[in-house]
Amino acid sequence: MELRTRIAHHSARIAVIGQGYVGLPLAVAFAQVGFPVTGVEVDLDRVETLNRGVSHIRDVESDTLKELVTAGRYRATSAMEDLAESEAIIICVPTPLRKSKEPDISFVLAAAAGVKKYLRPGQLVILESTTYPGTTEELLLQMFTEGGLRVGKDFFLAFSPERIDPGNPHFRVRDIPKIVGGVTPACSELATLLYGQIVNKAMPVSSPTVAELAKLYENTFRSVNIALANEFALMCAHLGVSVWEVIDAAATKPFGFMPFSPGPGIGGHCIPIDPLYLAWKLRMNGYEARFIALADEVNRSMPGHVVNLVVDGLNRRGKCLKGAQILVLGVAYKRGVADLRESPALDVIALLRHKGAQVRYADPFVPVLAHEGLAAERVELEAEVVRQSDAVLILTDHQEFDYQLVVQEADLVVDTRNALRHFTVPQERLIRL
Ligand SMILES: NC(=O)c1ccc[n+]([C@@H]2O[C@H](COP(=O)([O-])OP(=O)(O)OC[C@H]3O[C@@H](n4cnc5c(N)ncnc54)[C@H](O)[C@@H]3O)[C@@H](O)[C@H]2O)c1
Repeated sequence: MELRTRIAHHSARIAVIGQGYVGLPLAVAFAQVGFPVTGVEVDLDRVETLNRGVSHIRDVESDTLKELVTAGRYRATSAMEDLAESEAIIICVPTPLRKSKEPDISFVLAAAAGVKKYLRPGQLVILESTTYPGTTEELLLQMFTEGGLRVGKDFFLAFSPERIDPGNPHFRVRDIPKIVGGVTPACSELATLLYGQIVNKAMPVSSPTVAELAKLYENTFRSVNIALANEFALMCAHLGVSVWEVIDAAATKPFGFMPFSPGPGIGGHCIPIDPLYLAWKLRMNGYEARFIALADEVNRSMPGHVVNLVVDGLNRRGKCLKGAQILVLGVAYKRGVADLRESPALDVIALLRHKGAQVRYADPFVPVLAHEGLAAERVELEAEVVRQSDAVLILTDHQEFDYQLVVQEADLVVDTRNALRHFTVPQERLIRL
């Protein structure tokens, strides 16, 4: 039976390489509609827990995973040779930045090398990792055709960007349209058919590069607009006006405006990183991406601004930062997740420490803070802890925090997320971004 029919019958064997925030929900989505799915993962501990039906991703319930493992529709493995049996292979490995802010596509290359080794006629390969435009055709296509296999005839290759928003209960895998850019029309057709089994809408575009660029445009759009909101916060501070009130007022316009929120900086695996992939590629082509550079500069200046706000607040209370006890609320990069990657809280804590402050943190999702050389003591958000603190600094507005308690007990609150918008707090005890 040919691949098209096996996809339509949900009997095609699917391998998803990388079982992280992107790969695991995707693998589960395919397994839930009946496909036999293998999660290929280099982290042996992760393989072991996944095979016991224990999920490390909040958006995937362990009960769901357990059912799929028991039913034989999902299993994890570290064995690349299992790719030989797969008919569709989807690559979801990390694409971080090097310290030099250049793309680190070593994970993609390692995964692609594994695919190449077991590539055989009839297979469909899809890259989902966010990457610079050209990766699919300049690197993967090049590698896969070296042995003489012909794309669009012997095997099929496409790029389809992942657009999930971890922790967002309103938009799950099925609700987010998939963009699909195949190297040939046959590649697009097969990849679109495959995704059409698990999402409400799968939309082909004319090439992998268009699909790669669409993802980068989305994330550059967010980075630039968050930077604009952040700079607006700085401008409003100079004028003594609440940026939050200004944004709320502007957002009443029913067309032509979309509200973005300022904050302590940007974090996560995507927004601080992906636009720099694009800027790097453009630089290789003799073009400086100015919006991207400026947005990056403004967003990365926010942790320093937050520390200045803490200094100002302590001054108001007749205290200095050196030796002050600061309680940070929320260290994950955004509300409702445990992800510390690129979290601006890490920079804020490092800067506070550098200036002599003592820092503890509370975060219901992050039991231990030990990340890239930075560690901090975790405490529960309790009245006594708040009373012991010279300032409470809200960096991530998790819904689980008891803000009433903070308002009642804190001597000073610095709120970078407008988490206290519904509370009345005396002016001398509250600093808002
Ligand atoms: N997290 C998000 O919200 C999000 C959203 C959209 C797109 N993306 C993109 O998706 C890609 C994956 O991101 P993520 O958040 O899932 O990363 P992640 O770190 O959560 O997961 C990646 C997984 O891949 C594994 N891995 C690394 N190299 C491997 C290899 N050679 N073979 C098998 N497994 C390997 C890692 O051990 C890890 O478990 C990135 O390009 C990212 O930019 C992420």
